Amino acid sequence: SASTLTPSATLSNNLSETHELADIDWDNLGFGLQNTDYMYISKCQQGGTFSKGELKPFGNIELNPAAGVLNYGQGLFEGLKAHRKQDGSILLFRPEENAERMKFGAERMCMPSPSTEQFVQAVKDTVLANKRWVPPPGKGSLYIRPLLLGTGAVLGLAPAPEYTFIIYVSPVGNYFKEGLAPINLVVENDLHRATPGGTGGVKTIGNYAAVLKAQSAAKVKGYSDVLYLDCVHNRYLEEVSSCNIFVVKGNIISTPAIKGTILPGITRKSIIDVARRQGFQVEERLVSVDELLDADEVFCTGTAVVLSPVGSVTHLGKRVSYGQGTGTVSQQLYTALTRLQMGLIEDEMNWTVDL
Ligand code: COI
Repeated sequence: SASTLTPSATLSNNLSETHELADIDWDNLGFGLQNTDYMYISKCQQGGTFSKGELKPFGNIELNPAAGVLNYGQGLFEGLKAHRKQDGSILLFRPEENAERMKFGAERMCMPSPSTEQFVQAVKDTVLANKRWVPPPGKGSLYIRPLLLGTGAVLGLAPAPEYTFIIYVSPVGNYFKEGLAPINLVVENDLHRATPGGTGGVKTIGNYAAVLKAQSAAKVKGYSDVLYLDCVHNRYLEEVSSCNIFVVKGNIISTPAIKGTILPGITRKSIIDVARRQGFQVEERLVSVDELLDADEVFCTGTAVVLSPVGSVTHLGKRVSYGQGTGTVSQQLYTALTRLQMGLIEDEMNWTVDL
């Protein structure tokens, strides 16, 4: 179509360095959708490879009502962020990790996936095309949402005959309404998010529909979110609806091990490395719900959430509190991670990608 731009053509002319910031209230960003200028779309027929892809004006997409994603849930998403540096340049955080995770999830969901190179290039092109939506330094970030959807029509249960890879972006601020203040979690005792052999370890869309009921009930009761336990023993921590969980006791930081029912978070993995480099002992293992009782601090990690301190956890009506403000370990790790993501300290791990 006439309004379609090829990725490389977009960047040099109409969306150049001189493009100023979008005219929105940058001081009050929450985690909500703000429509932006462009989205990326690439398609793949069954057995083929993904097309080169194009940037199109952001807007609705057309789907056959029999699309695999609509009928049988063949869909995956990713989440990553771009930050604007003081000098105006833009940093992506570990985009290859998202590409690899999408490939892993696509295999589980019987979908083809774009190559790491195509994924990362598409993310870069989409961010640069929407450059005026990357918040000024310190005001938030540009949240990048890649989607992989079975868009071909199927009636009988089978993998869809066509797939679409889409990327859209939105400027965001803090995920929880508490901002950076500690959140209050409730342990879910009846519902579970994942089962052994299921899809809890991949970022498939259905995992997120499955947690809405408990999340809504928790919010009605004043909690920020829900903490899930394993479905076999109803005893070991798994994750929160939208983030991973960590428990701090002295110099030891523990987090549930990845074993197929927990989303392998990129922020989780990054925090483990950052903490080890700062001299903490990090253990990935079974973490019993009882360990919440004598923890010094509890915190959550995720791309959207970043690192959020937990102020209290309620389990079977019993509430454990972790003090008023942000704990020192949570604060230390939050600062280290966000400085790295914003390009304020040297990136010794080579995690950031400069645009
Ligand atoms: C993210 O942290 O990027 C996620 O995908 C979680 C989502 C529920 C907001």
